[in-house]
Amino acid sequence: MPARKEYDTTVSHAPKRKDILSTSEKKLALKNALRYFPTDQHAELAPEFANELKEYGRIYMYRYRPDYKMYARPIQDYPGKSEQAKAIMLMIQNNLDYAIAQHPHELITYGGNGGVFSNWAQYRLTMKYLAEMTDEQTLVMYSGHPHGLFPSHAEAPRVVVTNGMMIPNYSSQDDWEKFNALGVTQYGQMTAGSYMYIGPQGIVHGTTITVLNGGRKVSKNGEGLAGKIFLTSGLGGMSGAQPKAGNIAGCITICGEVNSKATYKRHEQGWVDEVFNDLNELCDRVRKAQERKEVVSIAYDGNIVEVWEKFDEENIYVDLGSDQTSLHNPWAGGYYPVGLTYEASNEMMANQPEQFKEKVQESLRRHASAVNKHTAKGTYFFDYGNAFLLEASRAGGDVMASDGITFKYPSYVQDIMGPMCFDFGFGPFRWVCATGKAEDLETTDRIACEILEKIRTNSPVEIQQQMADNIQWIQGAKANNLVVGSQARILYADAEGRAKIAAAFNDAIANGEIGPVVLGRDHHDVSGTDSPYRETSNIYDGSQFTADMAVQNFVGDSFRGATWISLHNGGGVGWGEVINGGFGMLLDGSPEADRRLKMMLHWDVNNGIARRSWARNEEAIFAIKREMERTPTLKVTLPNIADDEILNGLL
Ligand SMILES: NC(=O)c1ccc[n+]([C@@H]2O[C@H](COP(=O)([O-])OP(=O)(O)OC[C@H]3O[C@@H](n4cnc5c(N)ncnc54)[C@H](O)[C@@H]3O)[C@@H](O)[C@H]2O)c1
Repeated sequence: MPARKEYDTTVSHAPKRKDILSTSEKKLALKNALRYFPTDQHAELAPEFANELKEYGRIYMYRYRPDYKMYARPIQDYPGKSEQAKAIMLMIQNNLDYAIAQHPHELITYGGNGGVFSNWAQYRLTMKYLAEMTDEQTLVMYSGHPHGLFPSHAEAPRVVVTNGMMIPNYSSQDDWEKFNALGVTQYGQMTAGSYMYIGPQGIVHGTTITVLNGGRKVSKNGEGLAGKIFLTSGLGGMSGAQPKAGNIAGCITICGEVNSKATYKRHEQGWVDEVFNDLNELCDRVRKAQERKEVVSIAYDGNIVEVWEKFDEENIYVDLGSDQTSLHNPWAGGYYPVGLTYEASNEMMANQPEQFKEKVQESLRRHASAVNKHTAKGTYFFDYGNAFLLEASRAGGDVMASDGITFKYPSYVQDIMGPMCFDFGFGPFRWVCATGKAEDLETTDRIACEILEKIRTNSPVEIQQQMADNIQWIQGAKANNLVVGSQARILYADAEGRAKIAAAFNDAIANGEIGPVVLGRDHHDVSGTDSPYRETSNIYDGSQFTADMAVQNFVGDSFRGATWISLHNGGGVGWGEVINGGFGMLLDGSPEADRRLKMMLHWDVNNGIARRSWARNEEAIFAIKREMERTPTLKVTLPNIADDEILNGLL
């Protein structure tokens, strides 16, 4: 048994969770935790775990946190009998790397509650299984808990992950609090519990595309973003990408962040250029940046609501506005109400949860009202997939459209990401060079760029802008210094691009040019996620409230060659609000890997395009017809479009 650990105050910790369990349930949580240990250790561990439950609202088993440095090692440094399992160990350690994870000691990667595991026993046991397993076995993961190794075969996934799968009626926020505290489920977010997080870079590319295209929406005469203001909030796991993306897109980004630790971490990492904590000084600086048309990112070390209100008073015109506080998790640290300090909020949410909820809702009403004042002057505001409009509406904020059903403002998927990217099959493809060598990443960047350039010469006009943006991204990727943690790259690409790039990587591995590569993607993609207020918010046939696509995608990937697959409840917009899945695939240069990547990537993208096309989305109908021409064995049911004239007056 390792020695007991002191609580380390130098790292960012998860807030104390709500005290939700009854006394008998707390006893059950303790019994559940002790299942991991021999009975002769229970007398020593039980009071320690009881104390963790009391102090933090969860049993993390801090004592079992390893003493070694947590980071993605080169694949050859991992012990084991399966290269695929070694790749998964690398990805798990990357998700828990202190430079990457939001609350590393609580095994939280991002989003406030996005867990890789619920406790350190699960981590240790999983790593042990991975180090022992062969390619004739599959490791089964139930919400962070390694259920065990089961006999399978070399073509099967090495790991099957489910996170937060609940009986649908038990999927409220408080259900998560309760069943997570009992130690029987967890919130995997998207790429936390599926071992596919690649640090803030993962989101920079998507955010850059969003800001660029948002800029195109507000551009009156084709002018660029120079001198224009993008006001938003959050410098956390994902939101921390916004200032960097703003710089790449070429605007002035102002980002409010209430947690000073997060603010200064991003500043030290070079992800945000300047920090201000005085609103008057902030206004002076922003005016100067406007005058000089500077490309600069500025953090405000405080509450975002103050900035929206101050800029309104000072008449500072905001061109683009959004929000990336963690409103998928509003009552447990995702959103900090204006008027309370960060510390006071943390105390109130644990000790007076009802009062805290009122404060959050009051702040959301104020927040919405300040945003409305700006949009009345012309600001283009969009929901950034963090459930801002949903929670503001639930709080009684003035964000509903006149029909009382939809919101006043679009989500970024409705206006930008859906029609411009997902419906054509473009999504956040990514890869990790498993040797850990920067030279390998450079080679893969070059290969990917060459492939895209080649594809672009024959691309239809409908996707030329996409191709141009993605080529520009990959050309500048190295110079933008995006790597935190593993040698990873994200690149938006469509089905054709993904498969051709992956096949070229596999050839380069076979030729000895580079070492093995792990492929993956964000769940936030064409086919991976059913989420009516985000990824599928531009589905208008009523099916945005179904989750068949995400489940079919997960299952389909599993028998087409994924190395590991995952299916999650929750992620982005909240527990019960979304079902999403993803995959990881190790490329080792073998002919089998070539066959698998072609089969699986084709399905992984086209499943979603087919569904989007059936929902009558024009761009998706175009894309799936094109794919059927490319792939004779693909036969998709196409919609016939009824003329509204025929329906008028019938009902
Ligand atoms: N649009 C997308 O592509 C996309 C992608 C990923 C995540 N998201 C969503 O965006 C949200 C943020 O994700 P994240 O990973 O950055 O979460 P995070 O919890 O790591 O970061 C959110 C940050 O907001 C800060 N914050 C909360 N309330 C604030 C306030 N009132 N004023 C200023 N700062 C405040 C928090 O201190 C925290 O650092 C989540 O809901 C997530 O699901 C959107």
